[in-house]
Amino acid sequence: MDCALLLLFSLWALAGTVTPQDSGSCPERLLGDERRRTCPRHCKTDKDCGGKRQCLCDGQCGLSCVAPGRTCPWPLPPGGNSEARLLSPTHSFSALLEVRCKPGFKLPSGLDVTIRRCQGDRQWSGDEPICTEAQSAGPAAAPTCPLPEEVTSTFSIQGSSAVGTSIHYSCLSGAQIVGSSENVCQDNQTWLYPHPTCEKVFCQPPEEVEQGYVVAVQKTEYEVGFDIHYLCKKSFLLDGPQKITCLPNGSWSAPPPHCRARCLIPAERSRVVIGGVKRWPFDVTDAMVPHGENVTFFCKHPRKQCSFTATQACFDGKLQPPACYLEPTWLQYKLFPHRLVSEIEGCEPGDLE
Ligand SMILES: *[C@@H]1O[C@H](CO)[C@@H](O)[C@H](O)[C@H]1NC(C)=O
Ligand SMILES: *[C@@H]1O[C@H](CO)[C@@H](O)[C@H](O)[C@H]1NC(C)=O
Ligand SMILES: *[C@@H]1O[C@H](CO)[C@@H](O)[C@H](O)[C@H]1NC(C)=O
Repeated sequence: MDCALLLLFSLWALAGTVTPQDSGSCPERLLGDERRRTCPRHCKTDKDCGGKRQCLCDGQCGLSCVAPGRTCPWPLPPGGNSEARLLSPTHSFSALLEVRCKPGFKLPSGLDVTIRRCQGDRQWSGDEPICTEAQSAGPAAAPTCPLPEEVTSTFSIQGSSAVGTSIHYSCLSGAQIVGSSENVCQDNQTWLYPHPTCEKVFCQPPEEVEQGYVVAVQKTEYEVGFDIHYLCKKSFLLDGPQKITCLPNGSWSAPPPHCRARCLIPAERSRVVIGGVKRWPFDVTDAMVPHGENVTFFCKHPRKQCSFTATQACFDGKLQPPACYLEPTWLQYKLFPHRLVSEIEGCEPGDLE
């Protein structure tokens, strides 16, 4: 091959003033696809060039003064998704180079191979080929229903949009979906239902809590996920959740709590049992018990000299003494403290028949 080439060059050299190529086959200088910044000097014959240059056809530069021995870059650095192969024995002027994308990759043209030519400016012709992953259209690309950009940017979509299959929408913003969250791609490539929409959800302000505080900025509406914390005024007991959260459906995770009042112990002159301890009411702070506390009173047996117990619970400031409880008089309390109902012996189980 090399010998043949040398022979060819020799023939051209011998030819002298003769136009080296049939000028009819060389295009007029016309810059276009090859994106060349400059073309070598234009010529009609070798005489126009002088020195070592010859008047040769340089692609879209047309007949130009080039040095045929000049080479283009070779080997090329390995391309990510392509492989280059020289089609000519050398990489000098007018040599051809094939760039082939790796399987599954394509050039912007949609083809997977391109040919580049070594130009007079020592560059390979054309743009740097970039192979990108081909869309796996597959041999039997199933017809699909359209999913417009405004739908795919609003929803996360599960499932396939191919004919005969269904998709499930969820709002990307966490907003409430309005409409059908499922859709089916029909045979004629239309959706069975219109696409749903996403509506931002708010919770309405919850009811106020009497004797309580809201530990949050009061708003006219609350975003999903917003927490409201509650505290009760001193001596009030929180009954219910300390915190409620605005749920994705616009309701609160729970109704707001109550702040429950303490109860005054409705006994003065006999002891009661609070939290397992038998105490005089005046020994209890403020003579009050918290909401929910049980207070056990002592009642006198109607006929016998013994006592039995009855328990009442404090509920939000209300604590009734049991019906059997009789508050001792001041005289009884002062004169006969050991005979007070809370101080006498408890009845035997048999006494209470
Ligand atoms: C597509 O098919 C469905 C059900 O067969 C029909 O109701 C609908 O009108 C059709 N749409 C178009 C655009 O042909
Ligand atoms: C909101 O969602 C919660 C929890 O998922 C549920 O318990 C409640 O009933 C829903 N409220 C409404 C109004 O749908
Ligand atoms: C009060 O008594 C009720 C019923 O016996 C019981 O369920 C509750 O836990 C008691 N409360 C307290 C604070 O001990």
